[in-house]
Amino acid sequence: MSDPAQSADHPDDDGHRVPTGADGDVGTVAILGAGRVGTAIARVAMRAGYQVRLAASGDPALIDLIAQIMAPGAVTTTAADAVTPAELVVLALPLGKHATLDGDALAGKVVVDAMNYWPSTDGRNPELEAAPSTSEVVARHLTRSAVVKTLNHIGYHDLEEHGLPAGAPGRRALGVAGDDPDATALVRGFVDRLGFDPVDAGDLAAGVHLQPGTPIFNGSHDATALSTLLREAPAAVGH
Ligand SMILES: NC(=O)c1ccc[n+]([C@@H]2O[C@H](COP(=O)([O-])OP(=O)(O)OC[C@H]3O[C@@H](n4cnc5c(N)ncnc54)[C@H](OP(=O)(O)O)[C@@H]3O)[C@@H](O)[C@H]2O)c1
Repeated sequence: MSDPAQSADHPDDDGHRVPTGADGDVGTVAILGAGRVGTAIARVAMRAGYQVRLAASGDPALIDLIAQIMAPGAVTTTAADAVTPAELVVLALPLGKHATLDGDALAGKVVVDAMNYWPSTDGRNPELEAAPSTSEVVARHLTRSAVVKTLNHIGYHDLEEHGLPAGAPGRRALGVAGDDPDATALVRGFVDRLGFDPVDAGDLAAGVHLQPGTPIFNGSHDATALSTLLREAPAAVGH
């Protein structure tokens, strides 16, 4: 669904913004990246009642068909227009492209980093390889955003299939790591609404424990098991 605001030629005051809920949760989510994980997050977010705005790197017309098939109901638009009315922005593009993100457009936003470093697709990147947590590199680029790491350690298919209502026995948990307490609280609410128990994974640097190569990455754990893994994580990865 193309953004009506684009053709109406006026600022984005077209009613897509949903007021922030009393519990501090959000109503409009922008997702940058319309691939496997971006469209999966779009689907589960819309199922949870969010308005979703979806963008890739270029002309939104290029992702209209993808959105119609993979995430019907999502508004396709440019990246800049996607983030303007969003209370929360999810980065679901290849990590190697993070430097193309517009820091001005994302200033003041809570930004979920769902990306991982894969040299085979991202190319070798010494800065990403040297960083304990790749989200710190993203945060260094987005200096005026509150970057929170989560959703990176669940496969896109599991994201859709493993979600359960709050309180369901064995509900899968996801770690949430960030430096800004308000931002991480907001993102924990988002994760909960998507169908997963949010577990505090510490600051953004500690998000290294959620990355590829760790016991947590791609493992399916409930909150108790994930908390235990996080407690044991420093020895596991030398952080
Ligand atoms: N696949 C999974 O199960 C999974 C799970 C968790 C996390 N992740 C992580 O999520 C990221 C994306 O993975 P994926 O599997 O979804 O990749 P993908 O299927 O290749 O999709 C990547 C998307 O990002 C878009 N993109 C590229 N550059 C962009 C930019 N500058 N701004 C906005 N969008 C841009 C691409 O479209 P254009 O090139 O047309 O712009 C494409 O829509 C990776 O870092 C991956 O490690 C993946």
